[in-house]
Amino acid sequence: MASNQRLTYFNKHLTDSLWDLWCIASGIGIWPRFIEPKLLKVSKKTITIEQLPKSLEGLRLLQFSDLHFKKNTSNRFLKKIQRKVAELSPDIIVFTGDFICHSNLHDPNALKDFLNVFKAPYGCYAVLGNHDYSEPVSLNDQGEYDVVSNSSSLISQGFSRLFKKVHLAKRSTPRASAIATHPKLIELLAKTPFTLLNNANICIPIGNSALNICGLGEYILGKTDPATAFKDYDNRYPGIILLHNPDGLRLLEKFPGEIVLSGHTHGGQVNLPWMWQKFTLLENPQFKSGLMQSHGKWIYINRGVGANMPFRWFAPPELLLMTLEASK
Ligand SMILES: [Fe+2]
Repeated sequence: MASNQRLTYFNKHLTDSLWDLWCIASGIGIWPRFIEPKLLKVSKKTITIEQLPKSLEGLRLLQFSDLHFKKNTSNRFLKKIQRKVAELSPDIIVFTGDFICHSNLHDPNALKDFLNVFKAPYGCYAVLGNHDYSEPVSLNDQGEYDVVSNSSSLISQGFSRLFKKVHLAKRSTPRASAIATHPKLIELLAKTPFTLLNNANICIPIGNSALNICGLGEYILGKTDPATAFKDYDNRYPGIILLHNPDGLRLLEKFPGEIVLSGHTHGGQVNLPWMWQKFTLLENPQFKSGLMQSHGKWIYINRGVGANMPFRWFAPPELLLMTLEASK
């Protein structure tokens, strides 16, 4: 490690450690820093689909999202996720992006071992999040989605967001759109049970019917390409769409699919009325979390299980267990 890199690393960790110390000393910081991020909740939803084929009635799909796997991800928490998913024994498992943080694949073997535990009779599927490409993307000072520096501490990043007013330009810079996928992450995923659907569709035979699972590329990198993703979509059957950032829903209006599963928002993360939008920069603030109907589809925005900044307040980590039901 070069000496200036060493210094940046030291500064980052010193700031984060001082912040942890403040959380403990202040008392008020203990809950969002040390308790809530580990309170894994299971949300159960039944979604009604018109003319749902008989074979798909009662199908149970588990969604988790935003793992943000990093060096200090608690092993105990990872085991808790695995245990809860196994207890729920879903028919299908989907992951809706942000395997890692800021393009850093710290411990590939540990991430691979974690993912290798999951199994479901009709398979495990995933899309990439904005942290999962070869360079990190966030907002630049002009409010555009752009390549961002990774050098400052998470806490300093958090503070600068808190006091900065950014107007969303709702476009990606050419630099962001040119970013490639993360070769090592793609290689790793190929060695796990998760099939990556990067602007691709898979039609899974179930009984004497089938279900489409269609995965989109990331919205803020300008990689959401529905024309390519839906090319192999079989219109005879219903479809579940995996879309990391719910803001990308506007691009799917003319395309089929009954249910969109998203993540990205972390449920507002620091979910206080005057604060959450500082951390969760959304074009559509109504997409903070939960189930709703929009653009002619159901959409569920999952709070995710991890986070880049290690805080959660009124937005506990979540697993979604969704059951399909035919309309009466
Ligand atoms: Fe995320």
